[in-house]
Formats: sequence, structure tokens, C-alpha cells
Amino acid sequence: MALLEVAGLSKSFNGVQAVQDVSFDVDAGLIYSVIGPNGAGKTTLFNLITGIYVPSAGEIRVDGTPVAGRQPHELAALGVARTFQNLQVCMNMDACENVMVGAHLRLDRNLIKSALRWPALARRDAELRREAVELMRFVGLDAYTGAAADSMPYGALKRLEIARALAMKPRLLFLDEPAAGLNPRETLDVAALVRRIADSGVTVVLVEHDMKMVMKLSDRILVMDYGRKLAEGTAEQVRCHPDVIAAYLGAHA
Ligand SMILES: Nc1ncnc2c1ncn2[C@@H]1O[C@H](COP(=O)(O)OP(=O)(O)O)[C@@H](O)[C@H]1O
Ligand SMILES: [Mg+2]
Repeated sequence: MALLEVAGLSKSFNGVQAVQDVSFDVDAGLIYSVIGPNGAGKTTLFNLITGIYVPSAGEIRVDGTPVAGRQPHELAALGVARTFQNLQVCMNMDACENVMVGAHLRLDRNLIKSALRWPALARRDAELRREAVELMRFVGLDAYTGAAADSMPYGALKRLEIARALAMKPRLLFLDEPAAGLNPRETLDVAALVRRIADSGVTVVLVEHDMKMVMKLSDRILVMDYGRKLAEGTAEQVRCHPDVIAAYLGAHA
């Protein structure tokens, strides 16, 4: 059984079919990419799978459990974490606290219990801070462990979001354009980071416009256009697919 199974997934907004009858499976351990022109429905697909939107139709299973229509925190409990295309960093917190938000999402229930016992909470806070610092090192943010979020450059904030998602200890991590707005050097660093994340045992679903990065990293690729699945397969298979070539040349734009 695949870790993620998506069948007949659809979502419309006031008559606009953002995602239309999309089906695919992601096996555990893979780097699985979703590509397609702007407006193809990639972010909507992520929003559906991570519980931000309720599907108009279709099924989503995580490790066999049906999750369509469930809330983000329920998905988190099943090991699903994500980053956002547009930065969602709390600028009035320090970098570490931003990462700790991810751990708090993971430990929500315990938090309520331990709030009744301050010494335990303080001890746990120190633990989570240590864990956050470790994750910041893992994503290459050693230089920013004591930094205020609003003092960090954009490229570092993109990686901070990844650290926060990892603090949820996910099995399945959704990255929506982690290299958007980065320079070529930073893009290579993010590609290496995605590889390290996958090597650590986390299954990665990636939306990314940088084709070099996608082709190099992905075990399989789903190509979307106008909300529909256009093609699916290995990098080699989708690269040669005539419909994919047409979509990317803007033949119908
Ligand atoms: N919350 C929303 N309300 C209305 N339309 C939306 C909403 N989210 C996405 N859409 C529309 O759905 C389509 C797909 O958008 P999106 O999923 O963001 O594409 P992509 O991430 O591939 O660029 C677009 O036409 C977009 O305008
Ligand atoms: Mg998008």
C-alpha cells in the first residue's frame, strides 16, 4: 500500500475547477514532485491533502486512513506536515520559537496537561529549544539560532519554514516551492537539503518550478495543467511526454 493515495480528487471555487479528478499514489521513501504552469492547481492540491480545503469530490488516504475533509491538526497527528508557497513565519518571534511552533503542534495534547505543572513545562520548553536548534543546524541555519525572525534574509526564512515542518516529525512532508525566489547557489543548497530530508526517512512531495532541481531530485513526477493530471511517471517519462512539452511551450496559453 502506498503511503499517500489520492483518487478522483476535485475542488472547484465558484465554478472554477482548480483540481479536477486527480489520482496518484506516493510510495514511502520517495521524492515525488508535482509540476505544472502557474494556476495548474498544485497549491490547491496541497491544500486539499493537508486539510486546508475540503474536497468537492474524491478520496485521500494516508497510510490507509481516509483523511479527506479532516482538519490540519488531524493530518499533523497522522504525520503530515507542510511549508507554504508564501512565507508563513511569525516575524515577532525569534527563529527558534518559530521552529518550536512545529513541535507544539505535534505535542498539543501533552501541552495542555503539562500546563498544569509549570516546572515540567519549563523543562520541556528547554528540551524543545534544544531540538529546534538541532533542526536549524540540519537545515543549514547554524548562524541564526539566536536570531530574531525579522532580522533574517528571505532565503534563511524559507529554510526556517522547513525546520518548523520537520519539528512536527512528519512521515510525509509537502514543500510548496521551497526554492522560489532563491538565487542559484541557495537553490542548490535547498536541493541538497531535500535530499537529506528524504535520506532521513521522510517521504517528500515537492512543488517546484526549478526544472533542473525537479529532474535531478524526483523519483516520480506528476504533471498538472488546468487542474487535471496531464502525465505521471519518472523524470525521463514525463520529459518526453508530448502533452507535457506542449504545456511547457505554452502551446495553448
Ligand atoms: N481560495 C481560492 N478561491 C478561488 N480560487 C482559487 C483559490 N485557490 C486557488 N484558486 C484558483 O484555482 C486555480 C489553481 O490555483 P493554484 O492551486 O494556486 O495553482 P498553482 O499552485 O498550480 O499555481 C487558479 O485558477 C486559482 O485562481
Ligand atoms: Mg502554487
